[in-house]
Amino acid sequence: MIWLIGNKGMLGTEISLLLKKHDCAFTGTDREIDITDVKALAEYAQNAGRDKKITWIINCAAYTAVDKAEDDEKNCRRLNQLGAANIGECANRIKAKLIHVSTDYVFDGQGNAASGEQPRPYREDDRTNPTGVYGLTKLEGELDVMKNNPDSFIIRTSWLYGKHGGNFVHTMLRLMNERNEINVVNDQRGSPTWAFDLACVILKIIKNSDNGKEIPCGIYHFSDEGNISWFDFAKEIYIEGRMAGIIKKDCHIVPCSSAEYPARVKRPAYSVLDKSKIKAALQIDIPSWDKSLKEYIKTCAF
Ligand SMILES: NC(=O)c1ccc[n+]([C@@H]2O[C@H](COP(=O)([O-])OP(=O)(O)OC[C@H]3O[C@@H](n4cnc5c(N)ncnc54)[C@H](OP(=O)(O)O)[C@@H]3O)[C@@H](O)[C@H]2O)c1
Repeated sequence: MIWLIGNKGMLGTEISLLLKKHDCAFTGTDREIDITDVKALAEYAQNAGRDKKITWIINCAAYTAVDKAEDDEKNCRRLNQLGAANIGECANRIKAKLIHVSTDYVFDGQGNAASGEQPRPYREDDRTNPTGVYGLTKLEGELDVMKNNPDSFIIRTSWLYGKHGGNFVHTMLRLMNERNEINVVNDQRGSPTWAFDLACVILKIIKNSDNGKEIPCGIYHFSDEGNISWFDFAKEIYIEGRMAGIIKKDCHIVPCSSAEYPARVKRPAYSVLDKSKIKAALQIDIPSWDKSLKEYIKTCAF
């Protein structure tokens, strides 16, 4: 049986729906089993695993408010480091494999480029260097997960959006209906990722492993294919939203720089992930971000 932690969040809900669709035996928890409470996790594992052994834990619970984290470091670290460490320890005690979700924000967004060179997509073993509290605590969580339960998969992803939580696509669709003009930053590049695509990959890791296909534990990068700036992403959201009838009026999208749009924390300028490792391990093709956005917007229209 699978234990899905953080089952009410954006990614957790998507995984929950997919597990149901595939008739996978699973149990889900969110805030009611506090991941910072190691005893509560142990008790739940013992009770829930009584009838059916928990063989997998998927952790989607995290502190995800990137800007707020700068003024709330203690709480952010409690969730992203201590919570992750506790789940690693719990997985190790009950001998379950763990899939833990992490982020592109563990990198500084320079694309490992020496001065004058073009940035290149980040590989799993590239040097990490988070620029904010959220990225730092997620990195600390990764290290503790691996220390406490080496039988873990850590999946770093980026620019996640989906039906069941606040995200860039939702915000854009709302603002484009409210305003005549919006400014969007044009100097940060990354890969938008539909939560459904990530959910499918997580399920594939579990199914392949359970069917005897050896997938080595460790860190993997996953995002949808291709990369783009937030500005170009917003333009595509507008086109698709208009076509689907979700955006009902004209809206002018204006490019701006990060300096013109100050945020509490410096976002990575380039956070493209190299996905060769996961593609080879699972023998998969990854959908492009624009194809997935089209599919996603269709689901929003109904
Ligand atoms: N969103 C992105 O753009 C993005 C990008 C890259 C990586 N990621 C990573 O992807 C994963 C999933 O992200 P997401 O956007 O789906 O997150 P999310 O929507 O914020 O979901 C996190 C869930 O964890 C719950 N939670 C909070 N504190 C808890 C606690 N003490 N014990 C148990 N559960 C608790 C939250 O409840 P409340 O809602 O009540 O707080 C929420 O349901 C995270 O690891 C995140 O770091 C996200």
